[in-house]
Amino acid sequence: MLDASIGLDSVMSGVTAESWIMGSLPHAQPLEHADETKLMFHTDAMVITVYPSNEHERAAVETEIASSQAHTSIVPTLMMLSASDGLIVVYPKVAGFPLSNPDVLEAFLTISLAVRAKLVGDIVDAYAAVVELGFILVDAYLGNILLDFENVKVWCFDWDLSRRGDGFKLEAEQNYGSNRLMAPEEFVQGAWLDQRTNVFNIGKLISILLPDGVEDVDDVIDHATQADPSDRFTTVQALADHYRVAAGLPPAHGVILVEDED
Ligand SMILES: Nc1ncnc2c1ncn2[C@@H]1O[C@H](COP(=O)(O)OP(=O)(O)OP(=O)(O)O)[C@@H](O)[C@H]1O
Ligand SMILES: [Mg+2]
Repeated sequence: MLDASIGLDSVMSGVTAESWIMGSLPHAQPLEHADETKLMFHTDAMVITVYPSNEHERAAVETEIASSQAHTSIVPTLMMLSASDGLIVVYPKVAGFPLSNPDVLEAFLTISLAVRAKLVGDIVDAYAAVVELGFILVDAYLGNILLDFENVKVWCFDWDLSRRGDGFKLEAEQNYGSNRLMAPEEFVQGAWLDQRTNVFNIGKLISILLPDGVEDVDDVIDHATQADPSDRFTTVQALADHYRVAAGLPPAHGVILVEDED
């Protein structure tokens, strides 16, 4: 059973996730995806992910970030239900296709520099907001960003491999993620990975999405992607702030500020 760390909408004892989906969403179809630890389904309006009970930490991390409202480019959650064999997370189906698809990336690169720089700013701000929540990003890559070409909007999603805290020791020989974005330390077993690793990942991402040779942006990319972590921006937020200035963007407005009630 899932604990109170997940803000559940409902707990259904004795009902399996699949039987709830079949009963409540009879039009749901399996959704093709790579990660076999979770099940995915979709309807015209929703995407449904099922985390089995033994994947509690991944489910908790995913739901904490996706339901945080930390940035308007983060795909939100609609509902979280605990079934007898796992957690059901329901998201709106947003329009768009993953930037990891070469045709989608090619389409993205046809967007004017000014508009593209703003979309990249949204991605960088969304990532900075997640790190500020207290996570180190893992697997933040082109496949987990959707481009809605018609509405000129980007969506970031799929957070379940992120790690809580200020950093973590790499137990595996190589970190999980896209090789083309990975920092040198992500290939060293036992290395300490922290925000500066994400600074490198995001710097590489910016270089792919804005290969236009804008001098100030290239300086930011260069600073972010230094081989030695201590030579990079120390936080993702600092990278985001410098990127905004370099790209000539106004201050970030995507963060929802909630005033304390007292
Ligand atoms: N809320 C959503 N709205 C629209 N499409 C979505 C949504 N969530 C996921 N998808 C689609 O489902 C695909 C798989 O989702 P996800 O990335 O969570 O699974 P994955 O197992 O990590 O797969 P992959 O390795 O392809 O990233 C995405 O590439 C995307 O096209
Ligand atoms: Mg994914």
